[in-house]
Amino acid sequence: MSGHFLCRLDDIPDGEARGFDPLRSGQDTVLAIRRGRTLHLYRDACPHHGTTPMAWRKDAYLNAQRDRIVCSAHGAQFDIETGTCILGPCLGQSLTALPFTLNDRGEIHLTTDTNLETLP
Ligand code: FES
Repeated sequence: MSGHFLCRLDDIPDGEARGFDPLRSGQDTVLAIRRGRTLHLYRDACPHHGTTPMAWRKDAYLNAQRDRIVCSAHGAQFDIETGTCILGPCLGQSLTALPFTLNDRGEIHLTTDTNLETLP
């Protein structure tokens, strides 16, 4: 299997978000949100301030309604489907989507064209 193994789909509860540290840097650099069999992967870096991590504690990426991604630093809110900021200081800017594959065994891999070294 090509690409960098991230986790299994079942490792992310339906409707929730999880952070990952594929570089083992000691800080999550990838965030994943699952809705059923649909998955969204983004760099864990707020466009308001380049490399600012989004969560104030492990895996705290979503608002209370679980319908938006929230940056804990200054409260920017992002559409889950597109990663676009729809409220807050970086309005109109977007999270960086990461390409991935989900195979029939439920394994999620970052694709090989994802340059892990450029992750925040
Ligand atoms: S760093 Fe995310 S809203 Fe300011």
